[in-house]
Amino acid sequence: MTVPHIALVTGAGRGIGAAVAAELARVGATVVLAARSLDECERTAQALRSGGSRALAVTLDVGDPASIAAALARVREAVGAPDWLVNNAGIAVSAPLCPKDGSADELYERHMAVNFHGARRIAEALLPAMRVARYGRIVNIASSAGLRGYRYVAAYCASKHALMGWARAAALELDGSGVQVASVCPHYVDSPMTDASVRKIAAKTGRSESEARTLLAAENPSGKLVEPAQIARVVRELLESACNGAEVELDGGAPRYHPTQR
Ligand SMILES: NC(=O)c1ccc[n+]([C@@H]2O[C@H](COP(=O)([O-])OP(=O)(O)OC[C@H]3O[C@@H](n4cnc5c(N)ncnc54)[C@H](OP(=O)(O)O)[C@@H]3O)[C@@H](O)[C@H]2O)c1
Repeated sequence: MTVPHIALVTGAGRGIGAAVAAELARVGATVVLAARSLDECERTAQALRSGGSRALAVTLDVGDPASIAAALARVREAVGAPDWLVNNAGIAVSAPLCPKDGSADELYERHMAVNFHGARRIAEALLPAMRVARYGRIVNIASSAGLRGYRYVAAYCASKHALMGWARAAALELDGSGVQVASVCPHYVDSPMTDASVRKIAAKTGRSESEARTLLAAENPSGKLVEPAQIARVVRELLESACNGAEVELDGGAPRYHPTQR
């Protein structure tokens, strides 16, 4: 009998993370859903459990090292050491370059703490056991903003470029260890994060929310928002395969697999 994988999905209460959690539960993994809002994770976990899956909700603030340590201790005690990690939790706050109100440092520090250091710290905490087991998969939900720039989100772009840089270095260093790291880079996704951007654009420009959504979709090369379910399928395929160094760009059309760095 094969032992089911134990998957930790951060930011799994809603949006992309919830879709990934559902996809991994569907293929029999024990899924840990982690985010700051325990009630959201618990609702999603409950829905998975009612479908017969094993799912646990835990409180986690990836921007806080003490919260990471406490959440991982709870996970290890409850279900064991995760061999699949999906670093999905993230924030995106828009602001012009050099805001005049002096908020830049806080903005950059917050994005780096959550989108980069959070993902890095959780991976570092799980890596020793993965290395001993000579098996582990880490998939980071980065962004097309980790591959190129976008206006008014320099802090977000910087944090996602940092995450991509870390994943590229980690993949080289882990080569041959059995532990593999891959990155998924979606363009605009149909998720609550994009809903918030739509509301902000509508409020700032006087456009309707529907017009604002169409504008964001038109920024994607496919002209369509990416579906969270498509991201979830790609994440599952990466976790189930030899994926070290893989980078998959999703723009609403067919996935684009970038050449793996060697
Ligand atoms: N939406 C897009 O267009 C898009 C495009 C490319 C990449 N992405 C990336 O995809 C990931 C998921 O995005 P999404 O669109 O699904 O966003 P979302 O709908 O806003 O969901 C974000 C998730 O992350 C969690 N989260 C945020 N800060 C956290 C923290 N400090 N600690 C733990 N969990 C935290 C949230 O829960 P709590 O608030 O309860 O903690 C929530 O579960 C993010 O990394 C995002 O950058 C999104």
